[in-house]
Amino acid sequence: MIARGVMLGPDQPVIMHLLDILPAAEALDAVRMELVDAAFPLLKGVVATTDAMEACSGVNIAILVGGYRRKEGMERKDVLSKNVSVYKDQASALEQYAAADCKVLVVANPANTNALILKEFAPSIPAKNITCLTRLDHNRALGQIAKRLNIHVNCVKNVIIWGNHSSTQYPDVNHAIVTTQAGEKAVKDLISDTKWLNEEFITIVQQRGAAVIKARGQSSALSAASAVCDHIHDWILGTPKGSWVSMGVCSDGSYGIHAGLIYSFPVTCRKGEWSIVQGLQIDDFSRAKMDATAKELVEEKSSAYACLEVK
Ligand SMILES: NC(=O)c1ccc[n+]([C@@H]2O[C@H](COP(=O)([O-])OP(=O)(O)OC[C@H]3O[C@@H](n4cnc5c(N)ncnc54)[C@H](O)[C@@H]3O)[C@@H](O)[C@H]2O)c1
Repeated sequence: MIARGVMLGPDQPVIMHLLDILPAAEALDAVRMELVDAAFPLLKGVVATTDAMEACSGVNIAILVGGYRRKEGMERKDVLSKNVSVYKDQASALEQYAAADCKVLVVANPANTNALILKEFAPSIPAKNITCLTRLDHNRALGQIAKRLNIHVNCVKNVIIWGNHSSTQYPDVNHAIVTTQAGEKAVKDLISDTKWLNEEFITIVQQRGAAVIKARGQSSALSAASAVCDHIHDWILGTPKGSWVSMGVCSDGSYGIHAGLIYSFPVTCRKGEWSIVQGLQIDDFSRAKMDATAKELVEEKSSAYACLEVK
C-alpha cells in the first residue's frame, strides 16, 4: 500500500526501511525481494535490516509494528510487559538516527502505552510527533454505522474513538453525521434504537480486534494496514473540511484528560499538524466512559514503568 502511493499519494516517491529481529531476517529478505519484484514505480529503494540504527537512519515517517504478538485468549495487559522494553529501545534509536522532524505512528500493542514510553524515553522528539493508531477502531465504527443504516461507509463521518486502543475505548456517535440526499443528518436522529447505540454498537467496536483474532488466529492485517495508511495520509495531507478523524495523541488536558497521556481524541489535520477538536458537548454517559478508558491508561503507564523498573 505504501509503495503504491496509498499512504502519501500517487506523486510521492518513497524509500522503505524495514526492520525486524534476527530470527526473522530471512522472512524480511523475502519481503524485500517481493517489493523489488513488484516493480512499483514510486518505490525508489528498500533497506531491509535487523540493525535498528540502520533502519532509523534519516527516516521521515516511522511506523512501529514490531513487537510480541497477541494471540487468542491473551489480553492486552499480557503483551504489555513484553513490549514496553522494545519501545524504550526504539525510542533511543529514533532519537539518535531519525530525521529531526520524523513523525511516529505506534501500531504494536499496547499501542498508547508503547507510544507513551517512546515519548518519555525520546525527549528530543517533539511530543506532537508521536502518535498511536486508533484509526482502525474509528474505521470499524464507521463501518458498523453504515451497515446498520444500509448505506455506504463514505456517507458517514465524525465518529470518535476516545481513549485507549483496547476494550475500554469509547466509540462515540453523539456528533457523527450521515450525508443523505436531504443533506447532513445526525446519526442519533437516524438510529432511534438508543439501546443498540449505547450497548451493542459500542461492544462490537471494542471487541472487533478480538473477534478477528478468534476467527483467524492472528491480529487484523488488511484493515490495520489500511488504517495506518489513512492515519499517515490525513496527518500529512490533511483532513477534509468539516470532518475529523481519531488519533492517539499526547493529551494537552483537553476534555479533562490528564496532560501527557497518549489518548485517542477527535482531531483535524492541516499542514502536517494535528489539533484536537474543541468544544464538543460531553454528556454524563460519555464522561463516564472517557474517564474509564483514561483510568486504564494511567494504570497501564504505572505497569509499564514497573516493568521497566524505573522509579
Ligand atoms: N493499533 C491497532 O489498531 C493494531 C491493529 C493490528 C495489530 N496491532 C498490533 O500490531 C502488532 C503487530 O501485529 P502483527 O499481526 O503484524 O504481528 P506479527 O507477530 O505478525 O508481526 C510482528 C513483527 O514484529 C517483529 N518484531 C518482534 N520484536 C521486534 C523488535 N524488537 N524490533 C523489530 N521488530 C520486531 C516480529 O519478528 C514480527 O515480524 C501487534 O502488537 C498487534 O497487536 C495493532
